[in-house]
Amino acid sequence: MKDSILITGASGSLGDMVWQRLADAGYHILAPVRSQKSVDALQSKEVAATILNLTDEAAVRTYVRDIKEKRNIVGAVLLAGGFMAGDLLSTNKDTLGKMIALNFETTFYLVRELIPVFEQGGGGRFIFIGSKAALEAEEGKNKVAYALSKQLVFHLAELVNAYGKGKGMDATVIVPSTIDTLKNRQFMPDADFTKWVSPEAIADTIYFALSEAGRQMRNSILKLYNES
Ligand SMILES: NC(=O)c1ccc[n+]([C@@H]2O[C@H](COP(=O)([O-])OP(=O)(O)OC[C@H]3O[C@@H](n4cnc5c(N)ncnc54)[C@H](OP(=O)(O)O)[C@@H]3O)[C@@H](O)[C@H]2O)c1
Repeated sequence: MKDSILITGASGSLGDMVWQRLADAGYHILAPVRSQKSVDALQSKEVAATILNLTDEAAVRTYVRDIKEKRNIVGAVLLAGGFMAGDLLSTNKDTLGKMIALNFETTFYLVRELIPVFEQGGGGRFIFIGSKAALEAEEGKNKVAYALSKQLVFHLAELVNAYGKGKGMDATVIVPSTIDTLKNRQFMPDADFTKWVSPEAIADTIYFALSEAGRQMRNSILKLYNES
């Protein structure tokens, strides 16, 4: 049986490139997504796409219980997330709640369920997706709820790494600046796209992090900013 990588956000702009890169490398892909439309878009014999709301704690538990019986899961690439603009003064309970659910809860519940699976299997690798906005205040000052929610993802990686020490378990955080996606090009038509980070570069970096050599990295934060 092929090793499986669980990828969230596989139907998104970045996820599309990532799942194809990892499938080409010989992995079987487990892809929980939000809608039937996304399941349909992921039709490939290498991908098992399933509808799952990643903010639904009980549904995530059931999903992991089911897949762990059927597949050998060696890694999880947790890309699901999203963005809202807003400075300090305009950020409220609603935007905070939405951003924390979308960027942090979608990561946390899966991580919690997968840790025992990795432990039982002798190890496993998590790849999280952060954001430059969470690391640099100048970048985050107009995306406050987003920056705060992504900061939780960085801290979760540290907690996973503290727990996983000596157990072959590790979390790496990939930190993109602006990704060169169609959506971003449409949203910022006057920007210099050559300065953005390419989804291909991120997919290659994730592939490396999952490789034999990459598995020797510990507590890594990989900044892919290109020139933006
Ligand atoms: N784009 C950028 O410039 C940029 C920069 C820095 C960091 N990032 C981060 O990179 C990641 C990917 O970005 P992207 O541009 O590819 O985003 P995207 O195109 O908006 O895709 C978001 C993905 O997350 C999934 N998702 C969202 N909520 C979900 C939920 N509750 N349950 C299950 N799946 C859910 C979506 O599934 P459905 O398709 O089924 O809805 C979709 O696959 C995000 O975490 C983002 O914050 C992006």
